[in-house]
Amino acid sequence: MIFYFTGNGNSRWVAEKIAEYIHDKVVNIADIIKGDESIPDLSQESRIGFVFPIHSWYAPRIVVDFATSLQLNSQIYRYAICTCGDDAGKGMQRFSAHFRLDAAWSVVMPNTYIPMFELDSPDKALSKIRKTEERIPRIADAICKRARVWEVREGACPRLKTYAINFLFVKSGIHPERFHIEGDCVSCGACVKVCPVGNIDLKEGLPVWSDVCTHCMGCVHTCPQHIIQYGKVTRKRGRYRLADLLQNKK
Ligand SMILES: Cc1cc2nc3c(=O)[nH]c(=O)nc-3n(C[C@H](O)[C@H](O)[C@H](O)COP(=O)(O)O)c2cc1C
Repeated sequence: MIFYFTGNGNSRWVAEKIAEYIHDKVVNIADIIKGDESIPDLSQESRIGFVFPIHSWYAPRIVVDFATSLQLNSQIYRYAICTCGDDAGKGMQRFSAHFRLDAAWSVVMPNTYIPMFELDSPDKALSKIRKTEERIPRIADAICKRARVWEVREGACPRLKTYAINFLFVKSGIHPERFHIEGDCVSCGACVKVCPVGNIDLKEGLPVWSDVCTHCMGCVHTCPQHIIQYGKVTRKRGRYRLADLLQNKK
């Protein structure tokens, strides 16, 4: 069984690719959190995987909480793959301190964090996807062999990023009140549907954000009108959905 969490499609794509190779099932953690699916029976599973995006050099809190809530037999093989724009810091090591891992990989995918950075160019984004796609069969093979592997790109100053900067990010870097619309909303509900934590409602046809945001940027990237902004900074930044990028490539 592979549990995944995604804001903009990167981690789902990786989870589905791995599942294809190892003939396993994928389950979206968000569907369980929102009550659309129940936690599957894991008693007969011989391996369990997690695929999630790196948020400020660590796993999103929701993934850590979900993983640590599972009751697993001691024989089960446990692995995780994080997707990141550049590097994961000590994020996988910190995750493993809460949820013991036998194997861990980081894979580089297009960046989605537009409050701080511009998107990757389409060429750079496609090149990241191609390189990750090339690694998938080897990762899948290692999973099938229950290998003990640790292939995580930590980048520079990993401890500082994962422990100090992540602490500040979680404590004071997420401001759901900064999400707003600038322009004519067509009340399509795409933002409501994409939010993995059910943080958005339509009130009188317009999106309203509550305060359980994980900062995945799914709403900002998904709005078909491109009118959802986070503060002022996202006005001048591009929008990204993996599915759109792969569609435009054709
Ligand atoms: C809030 C947030 C924080 C991020 N922090 C990092 C980071 O610390 N290091 C990094 O390499 N990429 C970072 N990224 C980029 C994502 O990890 C990367 O784009 C990931 O593949 C997105 O996956 P998803 O589409 O499944 O949500 C961040 C993205 C977001 C939205």
